[in-house]
Amino acid sequence: MCKKETFYITTPIYYPSGNPHIGHCYTTVACDSIARYRRMQGYDVMFLTGTDEHGLKIEQKAAEKGVSPKEYVDEIAEIFKGLWRFMNISYDRYIRTTDDYHVESVQKIFKTLYDKGYIYKGEYSGKYCTPCESFWTESQLVDGKCPECGREVTEAKEEAYFFKMSPFADRIEKLLTETDYLRPKTRATELVNNFIRPGLEDLCVSRTTFKWGIPVTFDDKHVVYVWIDALSNYITALGYLNDRYDDYDKYWPADTHMVAKDIMRFHAIIWPAMLMALELPLPKHLAVHGWITFNGQKMSKSLGNVVDPFILGERYGADAIRYHIMREMALGSDSSFSNEIMINRINSDLANGLGNLVSRTVAMVEKYFGGTLPSEREAGEFDDDLIGQATSLRAKVDGFIEKTQLQNALAEIFKVVSRANKYIDETAPWILAKDENNRARLATVLYNLLDTIRIVATLLSAFMPTTMPKALEQIGADENSASYENADKFNVLPENVTVKKGEALFPRIDVEKEIEELNSIIKNNDEDPRAAKIREELAGVAQIGIDDFAASDIRVGEVKACEKVKKSKKLLKFTIFDGADERTIVSGIAMFYQPEELVGKKILFVSNLKPVKLCGVESHGMILSAVEGEGKDEKLQVLTIDGMPAGAKIC
Ligand code: MSP
Repeated sequence: MCKKETFYITTPIYYPSGNPHIGHCYTTVACDSIARYRRMQGYDVMFLTGTDEHGLKIEQKAAEKGVSPKEYVDEIAEIFKGLWRFMNISYDRYIRTTDDYHVESVQKIFKTLYDKGYIYKGEYSGKYCTPCESFWTESQLVDGKCPECGREVTEAKEEAYFFKMSPFADRIEKLLTETDYLRPKTRATELVNNFIRPGLEDLCVSRTTFKWGIPVTFDDKHVVYVWIDALSNYITALGYLNDRYDDYDKYWPADTHMVAKDIMRFHAIIWPAMLMALELPLPKHLAVHGWITFNGQKMSKSLGNVVDPFILGERYGADAIRYHIMREMALGSDSSFSNEIMINRINSDLANGLGNLVSRTVAMVEKYFGGTLPSEREAGEFDDDLIGQATSLRAKVDGFIEKTQLQNALAEIFKVVSRANKYIDETAPWILAKDENNRARLATVLYNLLDTIRIVATLLSAFMPTTMPKALEQIGADENSASYENADKFNVLPENVTVKKGEALFPRIDVEKEIEELNSIIKNNDEDPRAAKIREELAGVAQIGIDDFAASDIRVGEVKACEKVKKSKKLLKFTIFDGADERTIVSGIAMFYQPEELVGKKILFVSNLKPVKLCGVESHGMILSAVEGEGKDEKLQVLTIDGMPAGAKIC
């Protein structure tokens, strides 16, 4: 390649509405592997990822946490970035839709579309799914519920701007059915039948019911609806209509947008329509993969079925996780995530297959030749087959990378790993080593293995960027020999190559023990929202010393009388015998108890609170209750005790 060709690849920008999970990792790891492979091939790569930070859901989540939406997204965006560092993701740019330059560009894009007559003001009424922030038509609902998340929808109406989609219907249908844009192309039929043929509906592109969005410059009641905001990221991140970056001309149109099927419609129909309206070139490919499911359901934080990628990566190494999710998932289909399948795969492919091939070969070079191969050679049976498979591998992998079929690329590479392991069995170096006359043959067998490992590890380094450099170091490959250029050639390692034994690349995992531990982690993780709330509250309570506790004097009291406090709906006035005297305590529990209900009962009360006047009655203490919930859901029960006399102290 004389002048470097460019290659632009993007992940979706993720919603920071919860922590990232293994599902998010899939798309990002897949894009990272392609980006790394393209760099290795010599392309000038731009790999973009980021977070989609506006919208009602974020506004609500932030409110739940009692922080501003910006504070909320700042925190989660950092968690996403931390995960990508941990997974060794080599993105070139990270876009946040709250970045000023993006906001500015989106406002200009919206205005341009308006000026061109593609955006107009109207009124929307329809079925609205709040969690998905999507309006649906009656026919799109599944059993009357949101087709995306299965939750209830509500009838909603609002003034809104709309984007005219119909002028682009024919071009989009052609794009989907006659070009290589959509991958796999089999998905085109469902898009054409469900959305285009029935008549492309105009898209609602603004909201007035929440504030956390990009304001429409010429009508500040409205904020830009998330999809126009989000999809624009692919061009604003290159500097389209902003001064922050200036590589739009260099990288656009994108070579590959990768997404899962949940957002295919937006990328296959709406995004091309937006670009057509803006008169910009269309991206070359949209690669759509299925979902990683867990027990048959889409993996998601809100379903509580999430496997934390930090935990898995820490236990088995980021590369093992990267390998597993890419190897499991065919482009287009769903794949069920299972800890057991993952661990077995790591053991069989990585520990026994690849790891063992490297460690056995290196160990034999050390054992039989002190670590450095001699120059003598003697060809033999099986060599040509191994060498042929190794040298033809690169072209096959190139082909699958070209088609975004990572699972197939890995399958091809691991065929060569198996072939090499079989070659060890066929040539039996330990038998050759018994006779000094076989020295040249033994050296050849070991050299062939080392040079095969060089090819395999070079091609795999795009997929497993942490461990493959270690494998290459162990077999004595340097930067030049471990290059893409040399990955279709044989006899590249020096004749007298010196190996360097290292740690096991992928230690074997004790399946039973690990499954047990992972299951218990998931169980704790998988707690209900109430438990999560309590956990959060408990974490937020300041610790006290025993003296602080002892400062509250809590005792048993006997309720002698009780009446309502005049002019108050909430207050009851209790006469409590504290073991020595009677005292008055006013308590705000009239919504939960009739006055006579507690008379004769022994309750617990704080005796040493400073007296306060409540609705004109002086209260000398506080009755203790257990409470839960708020508003109409609030529950309350006064703490009572049997078998202890009034005046007994609680400690
Ligand atoms: N913010 C939008 C995307 C805007 S792109 C212009 C969004 N965000 S998201 O956080 O919900 O991410 C959805 C994407 O995350 C999927 O399309 C997919 O790439 C990835 N995945 C999330 N969960 C997944 C699985 N369980 N399985 C596979 N991919 C998953 O939609």
